Amino acid sequence: MAHILRVSDLFKFHDGGDQSAPVLKNVAFHVDEGEFVCVMGPSGSGKSTLLHLVSGLDQPQAGAIELRGKDLRKLSESERTRLRRDAIAHVFQFFNLLGNLTVLENVGLPLSIAGKRPALEEPYLRSLLSRVGLEKRTGAFPHQLSGGEMQRVSIARALAGGQPLILADEPTGNLSQKAGLEVMQLLRRVCEEDRRAILLVTHNPRDATFADRVMFLVDGELSPRVLRGPGIAVSDVHEALTELAI
Ligand SMILES: Nc1ncnc2c1ncn2[C@@H]1O[C@H](COP(=O)(O)OP(=O)(O)O)[C@@H](O)[C@H]1O
Ligand SMILES: [Mg+2]
Repeated sequence: MAHILRVSDLFKFHDGGDQSAPVLKNVAFHVDEGEFVCVMGPSGSGKSTLLHLVSGLDQPQAGAIELRGKDLRKLSESERTRLRRDAIAHVFQFFNLLGNLTVLENVGLPLSIAGKRPALEEPYLRSLLSRVGLEKRTGAFPHQLSGGEMQRVSIARALAGGQPLILADEPTGNLSQKAGLEVMQLLRRVCEEDRRAILLVTHNPRDATFADRVMFLVDGELSPRVLRGPGIAVSDVHEALTELAI
């Protein structure tokens, strides 16, 4: 199966940080097309840093990141920007919706960015909102929605752009238990029905159970301990976390 993402021998120190203790060291893994991969680690373990490197928003001191088989280091700035836009969609902890745009307009944003006219695509955008259960809220503004609804809008937005890889950074971190569960079920469906690959980073054991593969960041390194789905039990995740003392 083709890799959508391959990360090799990644090292990252933050400026002004402790150079003897990199945030990430020797990090290597891949994500296949349509695969749901989770990286778990406690707060401050470098999960968001890892996603920033994958999306090219930050540069590692060493190591390679290949998106769709292209090494980010070997691209010009404009090629990198285009690849990032075409290959990656984001789902954030705090949703990152634009407050002055309606739900429908927020979902249409990736189309505007890609140079299309969202107005012409309205039936498509409505169908995406119907998939996330928000067909009745298309004209609402973000502040009129619950957290779970806002996150479902952001998933519809991630679908609208058609990118093959979704990066999700603690997508349930700001949601109730129930809303978080709905969001995870939706992400799982997106992975299966649309063959989107998902790279989820989280410290939530329940969320990890939705993945095909769970890896653990321990002191900046990926542990050789890996859990494989389908059907990862939350007790398996807790057991691994206890064993790894993270
Ligand atoms: N831009 C930055 N500059 C300096 N240090 C940073 C920066 N971003 C994160 N860090 C540090 O790197 C470590 C990992 O942070 P982060 O990737 O946000 O972890 P996580 O997402 O797992 O909570 C933390 O110690 C954090 O303080
Ligand atoms: Mg983080």
